[in-house]
Amino acid sequence: MGHGGRDHLLLTVATTLMLSIRTPGFWGARIIGGREVTPHSRPYMVSVSFEGQHHCGGFLLRAHWVVSAAHCFSNRDPQTGLVVLGAHALRTSEPTRQVFGISAVIRHPDYQPMTHANDICLLQLNSSAILGPAVGLLGLPQRSSRPLKAGTRCQVAGWGSVSNFEELPPGLMEAEVRVLGLDICNSSWRGQLSPAMLCTHSGDRRWRGFCSADSGGPLVCRNQAHGLVSFSGLWCGDPKTPDVYTQVSSFITWIWDVIQQHPHGLQPSPFPCTTGASKRAAWVQHWVHK
Ligand SMILES: *[C@@H]1O[C@H](CO)[C@@H](O)[C@H](O)[C@H]1NC(C)=O
Ligand SMILES: *[C@@H]1O[C@H](CO)[C@@H](O)[C@H](O)[C@H]1NC(C)=O
Repeated sequence: MGHGGRDHLLLTVATTLMLSIRTPGFWGARIIGGREVTPHSRPYMVSVSFEGQHHCGGFLLRAHWVVSAAHCFSNRDPQTGLVVLGAHALRTSEPTRQVFGISAVIRHPDYQPMTHANDICLLQLNSSAILGPAVGLLGLPQRSSRPLKAGTRCQVAGWGSVSNFEELPPGLMEAEVRVLGLDICNSSWRGQLSPAMLCTHSGDRRWRGFCSADSGGPLVCRNQAHGLVSFSGLWCGDPKTPDVYTQVSSFITWIWDVIQQHPHGLQPSPFPCTTGASKRAAWVQHWVHK
């Protein structure tokens, strides 16, 4: 990322840590392997923050509904969370921004923290976003749509780390990735994947994909949200542990049912996400992105 002294320090630390698994091309990693987007070219992108810090991504589905990942709200009090729309460079102040509180978090009832199955969550905003050039909606795939073919080109975006050393991005980053067959991906993950998941890889030798704090953000294929960033391996971008997303097309009915059951203006529901927060094994925590 070209900040002289800091990079050098990171490299020194990294070299010590990673001698055994160093891979050519690794050091050039961003979002991982991506680029900064044209500001506001993805107006549906949401930053979920806690205590002023970006925590997860998500996307705006309706003026007061955001789709994100369930694991983003494990051990978090949603009442202290904020949803930021219309942002590009999070560390600056931007007149395009709209900030909302979260009046309800509806986590999928079958979300399993250990396996990451059904890692999807809906956030109801405390008032409606005003749509415009910097704030817009992203659509879902059709209920009946077939799974994407292996090799389909998609993009993933987020404000997550641009390296394995928690380096922050200059603005919203995006990377082009390709759908990887679930059977191949499942083998890489030693049979740990469940059906409503979707995997991507770079499709070439570069390390490319998502990293810490990209969680909950959309995988966009043909201008629709086909995936939600869920988990990957210990090292972001490592082809040995391909990126795994929640497969959105498996949850279309659930999403619209929830939205119909929570009409805007009714009293906010309690926060199901905060109840029964589960214990996780340390190895799972490694691949949970913030
Ligand atoms: C929504 O929440 C935000 C952040 O907590 C707060 O500033 C704002 O006043 C709230 N808006 C409404 C309509 O309650
Ligand atoms: C992944 O492999 C395991 C073990 O063979 C199998 O039980 C599971 O159903 C597979 N998952 C998918 C999504 O095919």
